[in-house]
Amino acid sequence: MKLTILGGGGFRVPLVYGALLQDHAEGRVTHVVLHDLDPARLSAVTRVLAEQAAGVPDAPEVSATTDLDEALRGADFVFSAIRVGGLEGRAHDERVALAEGVLGQETVGAGGIAYGLRTVPVAVDIARRVAHLAPDAWVINFTNPAGLVTEAMSRHLGDRVIGICDSPVGLGRRIARVLGANPKEAWIDYVGLNHLGWVRGLRVAGRDELPRLLADPDLLGSFEEGKLFGVDWLRSLGAIPNEYLHYYYFNREAVRAYQQAEKTRGAFLHDQQARFYAEMSNPDAPAWKVWERTRAEREATYMAENRETAGAGERDEDDLSGGYEKVALALMRAIARDERTTLILNVRNQRTLSVLDTDAVIEVPCLVDANGAHPVTVDPLPGHATGLVCAVKAVEREVLAAADSGSRATAVKAFALHPLVDSVNVARRLVEGYTDVHPGLAYLR
Ligand code: G6P
Ligand code: MN
Repeated sequence: MKLTILGGGGFRVPLVYGALLQDHAEGRVTHVVLHDLDPARLSAVTRVLAEQAAGVPDAPEVSATTDLDEALRGADFVFSAIRVGGLEGRAHDERVALAEGVLGQETVGAGGIAYGLRTVPVAVDIARRVAHLAPDAWVINFTNPAGLVTEAMSRHLGDRVIGICDSPVGLGRRIARVLGANPKEAWIDYVGLNHLGWVRGLRVAGRDELPRLLADPDLLGSFEEGKLFGVDWLRSLGAIPNEYLHYYYFNREAVRAYQQAEKTRGAFLHDQQARFYAEMSNPDAPAWKVWERTRAEREATYMAENRETAGAGERDEDDLSGGYEKVALALMRAIARDERTTLILNVRNQRTLSVLDTDAVIEVPCLVDANGAHPVTVDPLPGHATGLVCAVKAVEREVLAAADSGSRATAVKAFALHPLVDSVNVARRLVEGYTDVHPGLAYLR
């Protein structure tokens, strides 16, 4: 079975390969094709993978190419993990927004819109080429903003594109752990959009255990989301939000902390990754060791500013291992081998949330088998959450429309309608600022 990874020179590719190396079952991935625009990045990652594979007799064969069509032909699965504009682009997304006093984050608020406007045209082009060259392939989209990008691709690939994120799984795992439940046996009642969802219940053996957590301040304050949002706010909500809702519920503090930070997340990662790839240009560098050190530093500093404003302290040891590669592998296995499972994924709504149309991509528990991912029925969201979901989906639709038409006015509308952008004038200046720094936005006229 052939897996093609777009963005194959990306830093997190060894996580995916590491998961593949642990899969020895019949029907596993036997060939990985890395595609990237940058040959130097491809060779750096290829070296890390070679060290990972040492001593594993059935390790998937790895090849690398800068030719997209060649990479796609014959693929059974395509992982899309691209970063249009690179980390330099991410740093610009943050800086322009923060200078206007609004949030610059790669998936939330103004920064997410800018990143979406740059990424959607490229993702659509990839989707068209997959539909043409590998029409039977399943596409797993990691590329952020993942919900929006998945929806853009679904217009060309239908339900053959599935978006993934590790944050709902991580959240479910943390809640199960504090409740003393086995995450594998727990049913997580979660729904929303990517990076905009809520856990409303966690059932074990048919019983909802979440009320027990909400009733116990010590327990509630003992894990990441309890520390981030505070016990009182979680009890008021009666649900546990995805960590990215910190940017909404504590927006002012998050913006200030990001403004005051020595470097934004994008700038920090830009410098960190530049060091990594520079080190890897030395053929004697111990590839795996350098990669692993860099990864550990990245994990430890994830959402550091948010945790600082909340006085949440350092991340738990158990939360440092990531997990999106596990979601990706589980999804691939379920489809390729018809191993039925349940995963929280980004798929088309169908009739799951009645306030959204059937084609809107949402994040929801799905039953997965050889026929793909099928969203399960969930309880409606409360009014406050429905309001946010509808507002942000409307913004996403304006981003898709702007990417489609190239209309600058539509891009302004996308920014202006976002709940975290507080004036139409700010939206206008954001479009000015972003088009000035991003060549990838030259299509907006
Ligand atoms: C979480 C999010 C991902 C994001 C990742 C890395 O896992 O769900 O969407 O890509 O964090 O964030 P970072 O700030 O390290 O790039
Ligand atoms: Mn994510």
